[in-house]
Amino acid sequence: MGGAACERVRWYFTDMPYEIHEKKGSQPKDKAPAPAEDPKRLAEFEARIARDETIEPKDWMPERYRRQLVRMMSQHAHSEVVGMLPEGNWITRAPTLRRKMGLLAKVQDEAGHGLYIYCGTETLGVDRHDLIVQLLNGTAKYSSIFNYPTLSWADIGTIGWLVDGAAIVNQTMLAKASYGPYARAMVRICKEENFHKRQGYEIVATLARGTPAQKAMAQDSVNRWWWPSLMMFGPHDKDSPNSGDLSKWGIKRKSNDELRQRFVNLTVAQAKAIDLTLPDPELRFNETTKDWDFGAIDWDEFWRVVGGDGPCNRERLAARRKAHDDGAWVRAAAEAHAAKHAAHRGAPSGAAA
Ligand SMILES: [Fe+2]
Ligand SMILES: [Fe+2]
Repeated sequence: MGGAACERVRWYFTDMPYEIHEKKGSQPKDKAPAPAEDPKRLAEFEARIARDETIEPKDWMPERYRRQLVRMMSQHAHSEVVGMLPEGNWITRAPTLRRKMGLLAKVQDEAGHGLYIYCGTETLGVDRHDLIVQLLNGTAKYSSIFNYPTLSWADIGTIGWLVDGAAIVNQTMLAKASYGPYARAMVRICKEENFHKRQGYEIVATLARGTPAQKAMAQDSVNRWWWPSLMMFGPHDKDSPNSGDLSKWGIKRKSNDELRQRFVNLTVAQAKAIDLTLPDPELRFNETTKDWDFGAIDWDEFWRVVGGDGPCNRERLAARRKAHDDGAWVRAAAEAHAAKHAAHRGAPSGAAA
């Protein structure tokens, strides 16, 4: 699956090492070992989780809980933003005005999701700038799926159907997460993801009942995206180092393997309905478990892509860095504007939002 040529239609590409200014004092806070918690407070916190209470920003929380949330939410926000790249690449080439409008709206939604989740992450006491630095200097992760190329128009449909479809399965579970701002963000985001999935499925369904060449394009696309979509749920539960804390504290209510199985069960019937096949000869219904059994995932490929060696990793980061550089004047203007208003009010510079 790897090795496909990455799209190089619009994005500026560079292999140059990248550095951006890091604010003084950024990051080290979270690099020190988490302090030992007061056992009484920890017990009270865990009792709240057991009672299914929602944890809010000003509530006491263990430092490890806060850090796990920052890690997970910022990875999620980065994924929303990087996810705009493979799709944005097709806005100018969408086949009709209707398709163009749908895709434009979807890409815009993803930007909104990123902003929404970055805001949620800031309620945990981190600075968005630090998170962006981590993305741009390669120390933060984002979903490995976005390191695969979009080679045909059918890929835009398949991404909506499979990638947004997988995201919905994951995010519906996160809408019940114990941290209030994250859970509430997911409720709104899931509604938009449903639109994304439907418009994607409609694109694939239209191609699948089109000419033989269109159907072949749809099938080829599903063949390429199926396995990376299954990888989106992360490693098997036994190989997932953060899952323990995340489920203990009610951030994740279902395991990676449970969510992946749910996605497979939902998708098999959807593929059948539009007469496309999923590229897995081992896919069969299990009468005992009532699940669809599926073949082995290529975890070597997954770790290769996560480690930075997927078909498009360098190109994605180069595009984000260029966007960040191009936006420098907007940030400077916003800061100057805020400083001017703060000066008018007699408040110290930088205090205004
Ligand atoms: Fe999204
Ligand atoms: Fe989406």
